[in-house]
Amino acid sequence: LTDIRELHREKDVYIGKEITVGGWVRNNRDSKNFGFLVINDGTFFEPLQVVYGDGLENFQEICKINVGAAVVIRGTIVATPEAKQAFEMQAAEVIVEGPSTADYPLQKKRHSFEYLRTISHLRARTNTFQAVFRVRSLIAYAIHTFFMERGFVYVHTPLITSSDCEGAGEMFQVTTLDMNNVPKTEDGKVDYTQDFFGKPVNLTVSGQLDVETYAFAFKNVYTFGPTFRAENSNTTRHAAEFWMIEPEICFADLKDDMILAESMLKYVIRYVLENAPEEMAFFNQFVDKGLIERLQHVVNSDFGHVTYTEAIKILEKHNDEFDYKVFWGCDLQTEHERYLTEKEFKRPVFVTDYPKEIKAFYMKLNEDGKTVAAMDCLVPGIGEIIGGSQREDNLEILEKRMEELGLNKEDYQFYLDLRRYGSARHAGFGLGFERCVMYITGMGNIRDVIPFPRTVNNCDL
Ligand code: 4AD
Ligand code: MG
Repeated sequence: LTDIRELHREKDVYIGKEITVGGWVRNNRDSKNFGFLVINDGTFFEPLQVVYGDGLENFQEICKINVGAAVVIRGTIVATPEAKQAFEMQAAEVIVEGPSTADYPLQKKRHSFEYLRTISHLRARTNTFQAVFRVRSLIAYAIHTFFMERGFVYVHTPLITSSDCEGAGEMFQVTTLDMNNVPKTEDGKVDYTQDFFGKPVNLTVSGQLDVETYAFAFKNVYTFGPTFRAENSNTTRHAAEFWMIEPEICFADLKDDMILAESMLKYVIRYVLENAPEEMAFFNQFVDKGLIERLQHVVNSDFGHVTYTEAIKILEKHNDEFDYKVFWGCDLQTEHERYLTEKEFKRPVFVTDYPKEIKAFYMKLNEDGKTVAAMDCLVPGIGEIIGGSQREDNLEILEKRMEELGLNKEDYQFYLDLRRYGSARHAGFGLGFERCVMYITGMGNIRDVIPFPRTVNNCDL
């Protein structure tokens, strides 16, 4: 079978040739003795128009083909200089491989993203979602290529874990215990010794702690996999299941970490602009006007840098515009992040050196004793897309911090060992994959960039 993408890209090669395509019917119009089928095979936006005539033995059957049916068609490509599309196919044979019915949910009209979310198993057959999920696939490839070209080792970190990397308590528990008949110990607590792992475990919120152990073996590593957070936030940028890219680099500090993050984002944007021009033109026209120009600007300019303390000073001047008023020590909300990146810097910006109280236990304490060597990368339209830091490599300081936060050191012996045996400066970050896809495609809702979104009260299909 020939890809319809191929036909569009190499038109001249195909004019006059007989080929076979397989795809799904987008539209079918017939008049008395001929008709038009519009076919999409998922390889290109532009469909293929097929003309069929009553010379075909199953002409009557073809006239009745419903939208959504799967067909295999043999025919000759002919130039159509007067028509909107440059060529069409004259069918010699039309085989209906799988018919469809008149109640097919994707009829030839514009459907809202909200409606399409209710049929997530079918929405990838629409132009928008074809573009989104092809670009999503390409971004994943670009990220792997970026790290592989630089000699990073890809580490598959576990999804089931007994630690809470971020310490935010937003974990989904994994258990084989019968919820209707939970075994109890004598003092009335859940008896986890009877659970599968003999102790409580959860789905990972981040692969960082595991990947750090591999950084101390391979120097430069990354993990790229699903992560899970039971955050009760019903927003356009939070999902309960999302993918994260987490590199970890040894003999490196926060500055090196930001250089890596900036070059990775620029590499990925450039890669998509070059390798998915049709999809990007589509987003630029139908989803987010000005997208391409903005991304090109991002690729060609330096990201901004501001410390948390400076950022608070900037934001305090605009407190009357915010729902949440900022003060030194507060966590930045999306509205503040977006103000900084959209109004103040007008480009991606790194905010660094946050108060230790609002960041995770593993971040390196700065000399002021109050802030940590953390960085968040904020981008226009979304806010935080990357969170990272230099890690605390001093055993005593790390243990003290864990005590302050009431973490059980027994659970983190493997992590403390890294500081006992050959500790080294190291840093890393986590890029939210879906937020990256949103940023590059201009799509406004995280539910529309992951095939089957999991959010509060939604785990259908
Ligand atoms: O800032 P976070 O929580 O950082 C970490 O998990 C670190 N362990 C990463 C590291 O240093 N290795 O999450 C990293 C990124 C965020 O910047 C955001 O883009 C994304 O993950 N993210 C989410 N994306 C979608 N839905 C959610 N609920 C998300 N929570 C975080
Ligand atoms: Mg964060």
